[in-house]
Amino acid sequence: MSEAVLPKPILLIGAGALGSSMLKGFRIRGHVLPSDLMILDLMPGETAQDWARDGAQLNPQPDEWHKAKTVILAVKPQGWHAVAQILNGNLSPDTVIVSVMAGVQARVLSQGFSGHAVARVMPTTGVATGRGVASIYSDKPEALAAARGLFEPMAATVLLKSEDQVDSATAVSGSGPAYVYAFVRALEKAGKEAGLSSSHARDLARGTLVSAARLLDATGEEPDELIRKVASPGGTTEAALKVLCKPGEGLDELVLAAVQAAHQRAKELG
Ligand SMILES: NC(=O)c1ccc[n+]([C@@H]2O[C@H](COP(=O)([O-])OP(=O)(O)OC[C@H]3O[C@@H](n4cnc5c(N)ncnc54)[C@H](OP(=O)(O)O)[C@@H]3O)[C@@H](O)[C@H]2O)c1
Repeated sequence: MSEAVLPKPILLIGAGALGSSMLKGFRIRGHVLPSDLMILDLMPGETAQDWARDGAQLNPQPDEWHKAKTVILAVKPQGWHAVAQILNGNLSPDTVIVSVMAGVQARVLSQGFSGHAVARVMPTTGVATGRGVASIYSDKPEALAAARGLFEPMAATVLLKSEDQVDSATAVSGSGPAYVYAFVRALEKAGKEAGLSSSHARDLARGTLVSAARLLDATGEEPDELIRKVASPGGTTEAALKVLCKPGEGLDELVLAAVQAAHQRAKELG
């Protein structure tokens, strides 16, 4: 297994939702400095502009790109062909490519980028806090080492054994934060229906998610055990769980269908 080694400088292509989250994670963990970084994004947001003020090169000229030892592809899956067209011929042969794009296979990317070694990573936007989640796959040791060097400081990482599993990881953790936010939104709405003011419903729904997640993290206990500690027999939580987890038509089936839909879409994007 390769050690985590992050070749620098780094060229980040796409500073949108995920690219900016990564920039925030670099800032918190300090493993990538402004002097290590070039950013390509024609309409850079606040985060990329902050990095540029601190010394990162924003939209450097093509004759600078060959300096990059690691290229991060953080554009939409539909956008990578255009990136390959402009980058090809301007990269040094030993540059590794780390793609965070859903769906697009390493083999396809490597062909599109003149044979460069590629690693695929499926991160969560939680990397912005320095504590995200990232699934990593590569069959090229140098690309795997770079991907680990990029993400291990700012995410709990899982090294996948096969590339097929990247689509599965996309459906679980890449898209997963949105499932959790959708649940918080639903809990907030239900709180208002149950008679709380908007602000109280909002604070309680969010606070419940954050405190439950902290407990899950801090105790390392299984969800069933944590549920058992909240739900006493014949009590209010049990009444709710009978509805939420109704066999055959409850949360398990709904989450399974949602993950299957995301998995299918990830495969289509490839
Ligand atoms: N967001 C997530 O939670 C998440 C999680 C896991 C993986 N991903 C993957 O991460 C990738 C980016 O997603 P996102 O949500 O960050 O999308 P996004 O917010 O649309 O960001 C993409 C960024 O790339 C820029 N861009 C597009 N074409 C470019 C080019 N040719 N050169 C330079 N910059 C270019 C876009 O600029 P314009 O807006 O000006 O076009 C935009 O700022 C996707 O492939 C997605 O599958 C996202």
